[in-house]
Amino acid sequence: MNDMAPRLDVARIRQDFPILSTTVRGRPLVFLDSGASAQKPRAVIEAMTRCMETAYANVHRGAYHLSEVATEAYEAARAATARFLGAAAPEEIVFTRNSTEAFNLVAHSFGRAMLKPGQVVLVSEMEHHANLVPWQMLRDAGLGIGLRFIRVTDAGELDMEDYARHLAQGDVGLVSVTHMSNVLGTVTPAARIAAMAHEAGAKVMFDGSQAAVHRSVDVQAIGADFYAFTGHKLYGPTGIGILYGRASLLEAMPPFLGGGDMIETVTLEHSTWAAPPARFEAGTPPIIEAVGLHAAIDYVNAIGLPAIEAHERALVEHASATLARIPGLSLLGTPQDRGGVFAFALDAAHPHDLATFLDRRGICVRAGRHCAEPLHTRFGLDGGTARASFGLYTTEAEIDALAEGLEAAREFFA
Ligand code: ALA
Repeated sequence: MNDMAPRLDVARIRQDFPILSTTVRGRPLVFLDSGASAQKPRAVIEAMTRCMETAYANVHRGAYHLSEVATEAYEAARAATARFLGAAAPEEIVFTRNSTEAFNLVAHSFGRAMLKPGQVVLVSEMEHHANLVPWQMLRDAGLGIGLRFIRVTDAGELDMEDYARHLAQGDVGLVSVTHMSNVLGTVTPAARIAAMAHEAGAKVMFDGSQAAVHRSVDVQAIGADFYAFTGHKLYGPTGIGILYGRASLLEAMPPFLGGGDMIETVTLEHSTWAAPPARFEAGTPPIIEAVGLHAAIDYVNAIGLPAIEAHERALVEHASATLARIPGLSLLGTPQDRGGVFAFALDAAHPHDLATFLDRRGICVRAGRHCAEPLHTRFGLDGGTARASFGLYTTEAEIDALAEGLEAAREFFA
C-alpha cells in the first residue's frame, strides 16, 4: 500500500455516478456488487453519447472524415489501454467482447496451435469459470493437451508449494491464474507466479478482471505473456474486454474468428491474415464501447490507482472487523492480501434468501457461486455464498448498512 496516496473524496466521487443517488424501494441504493459489474460515471456515459452524436462511423474502412475520426478514437482507446497496463506497444492490446472471450481466444489460438501434445494447462481451484471452461474444452478437443489444478489453501491463498510441484513435472505449457479472486478477494503474487512459470519453460496468463480495477497493473513488470480484463468492471461499458498479449506471441498465433478486417488478402479458396491486433478483431469492433473504455481509464487515472487502492484497503479493514462481529457469519478465506471482495455464509439463511432480504433495504449483493463453482465445492459450500464487493465509490457507511442488514436477517430467519 502507498501510505502517501491522497485520500479519496468519496462524497464528491459519488456525485460523478448518477445511479448512486437513486433509491431502491424508497431506500438509498447501497450498491455492493461492483465485482459483478461496476456503475458508470457521467464521463463514460457522456463520452459514449458524444461519440454517437458527433463522431460515429465504422472504423478502418471509410475514406471519409467521420470514419477517420472514429478510427482515431478507437485506436486512441487502444493506446490508452496499453499505457494503463504498461504494455510495450498498442499492438499488444486486442479488443474482445469481455474477459471470457479473451480466454477463449487464447485457448483456441495459442492453445491449439502452440501447445504440444503431452503439455498441460495449469489453472487453480479458485478460477472463475471463464478461466476454466475454455481449458476444459481445449483438453477435450483430442489434441493430447492436459489440464491440472493448483490447490487453494484453507486461507484462500494459492498454494505455492503445490504450484511448484506441478511445474516440476516439466509438462506445463501454460499457467493461467487469476490476479485477484472474484470470490475470496485474494490478490495472487503475479510476478512470482510468472517468474516460476518462465523458469519451468511455461507461458503465463492472468485473469485481471478484478485486479485491474483495484491495483496498478504493469504487465511488463509482472512478466505476463497474456493478461485479460473487462471494461464493465472498470466503470466502463459492457461489450468490450481486453486481451494483452506479448507481441512475439500474438505475431505467431493464428486467428480465432474469421471475417472482415482480420485479413490481408482473400481469394475464394484462401486467405492470409492481417498483423495483430487486427488479426484477432474480426468484424465491426466495439467502437462506442472503446470510446467509453477510454473515458473510464482516463477517469480512473485522474483519481489514481494508488489512491483507489488505499481507499479500498481501508474499506477491507473496516469490513473485516465489522463482519467478524456478526454471530453466525462465516467469511470465505482470510487471505493476506485481499481486494474489496467478501464472500460469506450466514448460518440462519440461504444466500439467495439473504440477498432478497437485503434488497428490501436497498442493498445489492450477489448470491450463488459467483461463476466459481469448484471453489465453493473446495470449501464445502455447494449451496453458495453471498458476496459483497466494493468499488472506488463504496463507503464505510454502506458496509455498516450491510452489517445492520445482516443482523436483521439473522433475527428474521432465526
Ligand atoms: N464475473 C462476475 C462476478 O464475479 C460476473 O460476479
